[in-house]
Amino acid sequence: MIDFDGAPASVAEYLALRSAAGLSPYDPDAARIGLSATLHGTWGRDADGALVAMGRLVGDGGCFAQVTDIAVRPDRQRQGLGRAVMTRLMDWAGANLPAGCYLSLIADPGAERLYESFGFELRTGMARRV
Ligand SMILES: CC(C)(COP(=O)(O)OP(=O)(O)OC[C@H]1O[C@@H](n2cnc3c(N)ncnc32)[C@H](O)[C@@H]1OP(=O)(O)O)[C@@H](O)C(=O)NCCC(=O)NCCS
Repeated sequence: MIDFDGAPASVAEYLALRSAAGLSPYDPDAARIGLSATLHGTWGRDADGALVAMGRLVGDGGCFAQVTDIAVRPDRQRQGLGRAVMTRLMDWAGANLPAGCYLSLIADPGAERLYESFGFELRTGMARRV
């Protein structure tokens, strides 16, 4: 059973789950700043308290918000946790963000179907790093 009501991820937990899921690394200082600016985070912990699933909404809280950090530990993938994280984030968005707030995300290959099932549609996106 996964607990979604536990503590938010520490910087170390967040970076470890990103790494385990194959997402790009970040400097711990950047992660600390980023986590503290989270609009809403969903943190899934197993019975031992280990972080096994996560996702965040970041943004201005009014006009724009982005879905980030959707990740499930590999040994727990394909068990519905990614969908559970997205459901919680979208429920929070529906209840707490103004109607019309623009939700976006950059999907990694393979994850598109998950996001399409929550109403996300393909757009031309562009991205770069500082
Ligand atoms: C993408 C990810 C978050 C999905 O989490 P999950 O717990 O494995 O997914 P779920 O079991 O909840 O499945 C939800 C949907 O995701 C899609 N999906 C999940 N894994 C998939 C895969 N390997 N290939 C294609 N679609 C996949 C399916 O549409 C699935 O729905 P379905 O079972 O009804 O077909 C997880 O695989 C992961 O952490 N991947 C590595 C990191 C990553 O790519 N994150 C996304 C960045 S945008």
